[in-house]
Amino acid sequence: MKDKIVPLLVVGALIMGVFLLFSGDGKKQSTTVEVKMPTLSTVAASGQALFQINCFQCHGATAGGTTQGPPLIHKYYEPNHHADVAFHRAVTMGVRAHHWGFGNMPPIRTVTTQDMRKIIAFIREVQKANGIF
Ligand code: HEC
Repeated sequence: MKDKIVPLLVVGALIMGVFLLFSGDGKKQSTTVEVKMPTLSTVAASGQALFQINCFQCHGATAGGTTQGPPLIHKYYEPNHHADVAFHRAVTMGVRAHHWGFGNMPPIRTVTTQDMRKIIAFIREVQKANGIF
């Protein structure tokens, strides 16, 4: 009897270990997405340059997310759920954490309304190319 229980416990512990490994890491992994880059319009290309200065450290260079912030190339942020005004508000007022577990987004004061129009053009073009809407 005993010689059957010990291997069972070992297998059980291994299964638990693998489970914990994936469940612990799962949140981080599932929050970054692979982003396909389309050919950008001129305005979106300048938006990309601004994004890569002001937003990339949390949202990633292609807005696919990092361990510090969520992907913006995501269903949550399609125009019907987060219209352009929500993007302007996020940057001027900051964002209270509500969709994810990254914490709050601070206001980004280095970005003007004009800059934001270009950044939004960039995000919408990339969202579209990735089938978000
Ligand atoms: C210091 C990290 C950080 C930086 C820099 C940052 N963000 Fe965020 N952002 C976040 C986090 C974290 C969230 C998710 C909040 C939540 O849980 O819903 C977020 C959410 C958002 C949202 C969703 C707003 C909403 O209403 O839910 C938008 C839009 C956004 N960011 C745009 C930007 C843009 C554009 C920039 C650059 C100008 C930027 N962010 C820079 C961390 C950051």
